Amino acid sequence: MSAQWHHASEDFWDDHPEAPRRRSKKKPLGRRQLAHLTSTDDIDVQDDIIRRLQDLGHITEVVAELKSGKEATAYVARGPRGSVLLKLYRDLEARSFKDDSVYRAGQVILDVRAKRAMEGRTRKGLEMLQHDWVNAEYARLWQLWQAGLPVPEPLVGPHPYDYAQTVPAVLMRLVGTEDDVAPRLSDAPLTPEQAQSAWRQSVQGMADLLRLGYAHGDYSTYNLLWWEDTVTIIDFPQLTTRQNPHFRDLLARDAQSLVTSFRKHGIQADADATLREVQRRALGPAPTPRLLLP
Ligand SMILES: Nc1ncnc2c1ncn2[C@@H]1O[C@H](COP(=O)(O)OP(=O)(O)OP(=O)(O)O)[C@@H](O)[C@H]1O
Ligand SMILES: [Mg+2]
Repeated sequence: MSAQWHHASEDFWDDHPEAPRRRSKKKPLGRRQLAHLTSTDDIDVQDDIIRRLQDLGHITEVVAELKSGKEATAYVARGPRGSVLLKLYRDLEARSFKDDSVYRAGQVILDVRAKRAMEGRTRKGLEMLQHDWVNAEYARLWQLWQAGLPVPEPLVGPHPYDYAQTVPAVLMRLVGTEDDVAPRLSDAPLTPEQAQSAWRQSVQGMADLLRLGYAHGDYSTYNLLWWEDTVTIIDFPQLTTRQNPHFRDLLARDAQSLVTSFRKHGIQADADATLREVQRRALGPAPTPRLLLP
């Protein structure tokens, strides 16, 4: 089953106009080069993961480190289908998913032993949690991408058997190019017209998520990319469903973060009015789904 999925999508991408970009000779400026990551004598965990991804054929090389966040490090890599954004989750102890209870509230964990291990925050429990988070990020990326939302295309899957093998890494299509990676909206210089457009797209994106029953949980210009006048939503591990008793609060907080983070672009909006607009648009037309070829 998974092999069929694989082949179908590979054939699809072989013919796709966006498929493998020409390799750029210019090295990205201002970023750390990562030749050491692929050397065989380094026993660093990250090296093992990178090698596993290479063995699985998902990437051919890591080009540069893009950004080291508190939970994950983002790398620019190359794969058979073009440029890849490789999000590699950090060591378990450093992860803030240890404090994820507000997002996990209302979730039902059927496996009693897993539930105990997770609640106990043992090493094994943390590993299970991390596995859960990474798999959930892939599953959501696939769902949102197929539903036509402006999110990066996941590059492993859609069968969970395939993407489970890349944990603790998530592979998705790079937004922008290797030499000119899409900035976050928080960093992008925008004209007033672009700011208006980015705002409209961001409100629409939040509405599209809500239509599917989701609150992003960390929705602000820090998790929105800007490329060719188009907004792309990123960063989904804390995506929350209506089952969560805090759902309304998280949604209201997202509206507030969006409003606050857009002020620097000259957008003066009211958080309550924005939330109502999001709710109104969530009842409106949905984006056109992206269909996988059989
Ligand atoms: N598909 C993508 N294309 C280009 N850049 C991306 C993509 N996905 C993520 N990034 C970049 O990588 C950074 C980290 O990604 P993300 O926000 O998902 O992780 P994070 O763990 O929340 O990190 P941070 O704490 O820095 O926000 C983003 O801020 C963005 O600059
Ligand atoms: Mg982020």
